Amino acid sequence: MKCLIRRTAFFFLVLAAVLAAGAAAGCAGEKSQSKPAESSDKEAGTEGIETEEGPKIGISIYRYDDTFMKLYRSELKQYLEETYHAQVIMRNAGGDQKEQDRQIREFIDSKCAGIIINPVEASAAGRIADTSSQAGIPLVFINSEPDESERNRWKEQHMAVSSVETDSKQAGTYQGEIILENPGKGDKNHDGILSYVMIKGEAGSDAARYRTEYSIKALTDAGVKTEELFSGTGNWNREEGKKLAAQALSTYGPRIDVIFCNNDAMANGALEAVEEAGMTPGKDVYLVGVDALQETVGYIKEGKIAGTVLNDHQGQSKTAADTLIRLIQGEDAETRYLVDYIKVTMNSTFHNWKGDD
Ligand code: BGC
Repeated sequence: MKCLIRRTAFFFLVLAAVLAAGAAAGCAGEKSQSKPAESSDKEAGTEGIETEEGPKIGISIYRYDDTFMKLYRSELKQYLEETYHAQVIMRNAGGDQKEQDRQIREFIDSKCAGIIINPVEASAAGRIADTSSQAGIPLVFINSEPDESERNRWKEQHMAVSSVETDSKQAGTYQGEIILENPGKGDKNHDGILSYVMIKGEAGSDAARYRTEYSIKALTDAGVKTEELFSGTGNWNREEGKKLAAQALSTYGPRIDVIFCNNDAMANGALEAVEEAGMTPGKDVYLVGVDALQETVGYIKEGKIAGTVLNDHQGQSKTAADTLIRLIQGEDAETRYLVDYIKVTMNSTFHNWKGDD
């Protein structure tokens, strides 16, 4: 029975792992198929591929050089084209809200049937919703968490606007739980206090705020004493994550038990810094991220990163596209859809399972 339970758990976790690997494999495939998009990564601009039929959909992404949003936008475009034969006009806002506003006007002028926006600034959501609503064009927000009061307004004013989100509190909680699964509940140097470094995403982002807050809350809720040695904003970016980790390591070295990173790109950078500092990741220090990038899942298998949390860009793409199409067809939709995160801790799972077999 015990064995069966373990096998079931193993199956579920392997499923999570496969999902993660599949997501990442999608990344690699997309990358090679969409060279023109990659070459325009650095500048705000155009990437328009149109097919003969289906609704014209305008999509604006906050920045093309964001590793996770590369996966998301490729998946979204592919799903819209394959499922709805949509003509997708994809644009890079390049981190500039004014540029994104201009792109929205372009979508309206070119008579798009629907718009999908990954906002540069979360606070622009109300204005963007008004602009598309006044033009009579349904809108779906992705990868952002518009305020509840804003979402209520869409409903009250019968606006064809929806939002596909994830619960960043859930992601943070999972990160904390992943650390708790390690010997000494993550207190690697057994001094009774879990001393950590926090590498955060963009300032002002709810995802950064809640992943930070809830990862530590999971530890304190489990009765673990914590102390923050260092924290910094790495803007979701690998190089910045690496720089911050290097800074923390040079100041606090072996005192650090855990380096929490709000996403995997920064965790991959932090891992490089740990290795360059001559420490053994997974032994001298634990690392944890969010997204389940293929590279990170590889490090988890090698025991270098304790775990990550799958940010299901495939589920989010499908939900966003299906919702937009429903709105275009004049059907009702919720103002908010939540897509679950999934914990990915492959290395420890493989280990447990082998022991049981
Ligand atoms: C992802 C990050 C990404 C950010 C962009 C988050 O949901 O986890 O990897 O950089 O979105 O806004």
